[in-house]
Amino acid sequence: MIKICCIGAGYVGGPTMAMIAKQCPDVQVNVVDINETRIAAWQTDELPIYEPGLLDVVKEARGRNLFFSTDVDQGIRDADIVFVSVNTPTKTFGEGAGCASDLQYWELCARRIKEVSTSDKIIVEKSTLPVRTAEAMERVLHAGDNPVHFEVLSNPEFLAEGTAIEDLECPDRVLIGGHETATGQKALQTLAEIYATWIPRERILTTNLWSSELSKLTANAFLAQRVSSINAISALCEATGADVGEVAHAIGTDSRIGPKFLKASIGFGGSCFKKDILNLVYLCETYGLKEPADYWRQVVLMNEYQERRFVTTMLHSMFNTIANKRIAVLGFAFKADTGDTRESPAIKVCRELAAEHATLVVSDPEAMENAKLEMPELADRIEFEEDPYKAAAGAHAVAILTDWRLYKELDFQRIFDGMQKPAFLFDGRNMLDHDALFNMGFEVYSIGKGYKSHLR
Ligand code: NAD
Ligand code: UGA
Repeated sequence: MIKICCIGAGYVGGPTMAMIAKQCPDVQVNVVDINETRIAAWQTDELPIYEPGLLDVVKEARGRNLFFSTDVDQGIRDADIVFVSVNTPTKTFGEGAGCASDLQYWELCARRIKEVSTSDKIIVEKSTLPVRTAEAMERVLHAGDNPVHFEVLSNPEFLAEGTAIEDLECPDRVLIGGHETATGQKALQTLAEIYATWIPRERILTTNLWSSELSKLTANAFLAQRVSSINAISALCEATGADVGEVAHAIGTDSRIGPKFLKASIGFGGSCFKKDILNLVYLCETYGLKEPADYWRQVVLMNEYQERRFVTTMLHSMFNTIANKRIAVLGFAFKADTGDTRESPAIKVCRELAAEHATLVVSDPEAMENAKLEMPELADRIEFEEDPYKAAAGAHAVAILTDWRLYKELDFQRIFDGMQKPAFLFDGRNMLDHDALFNMGFEVYSIGKGYKSHLR
């Protein structure tokens, strides 16, 4: 029986390992983490992350061949394959602060693996890492006179939150990078065999290590670039009377462009897009490639512009003052179907509204606990109310910041009736029927479609 250990029981480690365990009953999967609360939650039906369909997958395998533990050393020692799926946030200190990846967590893992291993192992980079991290990892693992051999593979994860289970069950591709040596190729085939249990062979791509590491950063950069591109066009739509939804549809039907990732929004959020692009920027700079670095940095700058533009529009349309006005923020997660609020555009929007002395009422169906932790410094300006109707009662404005399906189904007449007048609605996700809202009496703004007002 192959034994897997995954270090890191987060948004990636938890779901990916649960899927491997579900699909491969003959493989024993041990997920380990230093965070005791997280590990305890994985052992209950109140999982530490909200992800549609995840609980069913976990329940099918947990206790059979899927285990969660805080005993990192034992997990490593027992394993044939060790996945490293720890966080790789943007560095906040020293050289490369604000841009480079903070690599301290994976290096700690590499040192631990070296320290406790008594048998040869395959080490799999699951975390998103800068190109050539595998080389550094090998040097740490093989430093000194350790007789144990480690073969390092890169196997980046492409799941998106909210659709993680579908993405893992039926991925567009699985990517595995390994050394072009006999032992590298053998390790690569061992991992490919596991995925081949449920994924067609032609979707399992194999490359050299550096291509695999770089492909992950590149994929996220391209996806984020599409969002920034359509958001740039949304500003021009508002200035010219074009409708960004119509433009996106018109260009998306070109098979060379395709329809996905063309939804204009308040900006992309999430723990990875910004971090991975900045990491790419840092890598380009490190190799002396100034123009490529500037090119990719612009994707992040465009995103910041879009977030700022939304707040400025709110302020200007509400007569240039929102001081002590009550604003209901519907949606705080960085996208629908997740409770994750990391780098959510809602954080920036709320901070800027609070800086204008607005009173905020934040509502979200899954992200309330995380939302409360994001902005402790604004505690006196923010209320939290899960019921969107109660959140909007007495408000001067409603701002939709996450594309939760339930917001489409709200009774907006009831919301309108309970609000201060004029009642403003700012749709940061372009998801509502703006004509119907305008006809109800709302002042309506939506990204890339402009402003519908009864007041002028
Ligand atoms: P996360 O913060 O949710 O989980 C990381 C876990 O690693 C934490 O629970 C932490 O306690 C644990 N950890 C850190 N250091 C440890 C150590 N030394 N020993 C044991 N446990 C340790 O992060 P995540 O969102 O799962 O992301 C993990 C990696 O996967 C990142 O590199 C990220 O870029 C990448 N990624 C994330 C997603 C996503 O959707 N979140 C998708 C693809 C790739
Ligand atoms: C993204 C990638 O899609 C995954 O392939 C990748 O594995 C992951 O990052 C990662 O490396 O962490 P995720 O951030 O979970 O996944 O979610 P996305 O669906 O990509 O959305 C990212 C952000 O862009 C969200 O804030 C979303 O609302 C926004 N977005 C997305 C738009 O504003 N418009 C769009 O058309 C698409």
